[in-house]
Amino acid sequence: MEFKHLLFSVEEQIATVTINRPKALNALNMELLLELTQLFDHIKNNASIQAVVLTGSGEKAFVAGADISEMQSKTAPEAKGFSTIGNELMSKIENLPQPVIAAVNGYALGGGSELALACDLRIASIDAKLGQPEVTLGIVAGFGGSQRLPRLVGPSIAKELLMTGEMITAERAYQIGLVNHVVESDALLDKAKSIARKMISNSIIGIQASKKLVNEGFEMDIQRALSLEAETFGMMFATEDQKEGMAAFLDKRKAQFKAK
Ligand code: HXC
Repeated sequence: MEFKHLLFSVEEQIATVTINRPKALNALNMELLLELTQLFDHIKNNASIQAVVLTGSGEKAFVAGADISEMQSKTAPEAKGFSTIGNELMSKIENLPQPVIAAVNGYALGGGSELALACDLRIASIDAKLGQPEVTLGIVAGFGGSQRLPRLVGPSIAKELLMTGEMITAERAYQIGLVNHVVESDALLDKAKSIARKMISNSIIGIQASKKLVNEGFEMDIQRALSLEAETFGMMFATEDQKEGMAAFLDKRKAQFKAK
């Protein structure tokens, strides 16, 4: 597949998606949002891709936000439309069956931070900076940041980030649970891919069901969420993966899951 602003490759069933607009620090314009939507639709329907690593090109930025020069002249209805298209993309990524790991290689600001938040987990390079600077521009978060950030780090710290507009270091992001790991820049992609490899060495049905359980359970009250877990747990016992996984343990050998 050919894109103007994206690089895409697949190796060992792990897709790497690179946002490639380095002159504008990978800022998300409408064209880029639509390309990402198209690519994630393709990935969703491609069973040979088991995991995705999402990163930015260049040394400076993951994504420095939505494109301010493109947004500047939008009317209120146009801005709402832009937010809606972005939110649909973020939900598509969040609900993709495959795990998506953000490799945050530099600035992840505004829409860039929100894109990372839609991923299942975030690995940051040591010099990455994250933040929600929308209030410094006279706007608010528009790609899900006001909702996913408090769910991830709690309302109080989320409000601090959303209301001061200040950037934080990767180390601080790690302390508040916004990123899972902080690594040297040259180790970033390897770390993200090694986590992806570890995930997909397990039962694919199991990892996809785990993702779905966390996502769907978060929107439910605890009793309904626990019922969903029990139902999914039961369904796993009708899979070959459960039979192979448990037989392998008892035979003291490594499980060979089929659906790879
Ligand atoms: C458009 C951007 C951009 C952005 C950077 N650039 N961020 N263009 N939109 N979000 C462009 C600059 O204009 C510049 O272009 C080039 O990238 C390099 O950026 P510099 O500012 O020269 O680099 P530097 O001085 O190192 O500063 C880096 C930076 C700064 C701190 C990341 O660029 C910055 O503050 N960017 C904006 C961050 C931001 O406010 N993001 C939130 C946007 S609102 P030229 O042509 O001059 O070389 C948002 C809302 C999401 O994301 C929801 C929407 C619905």
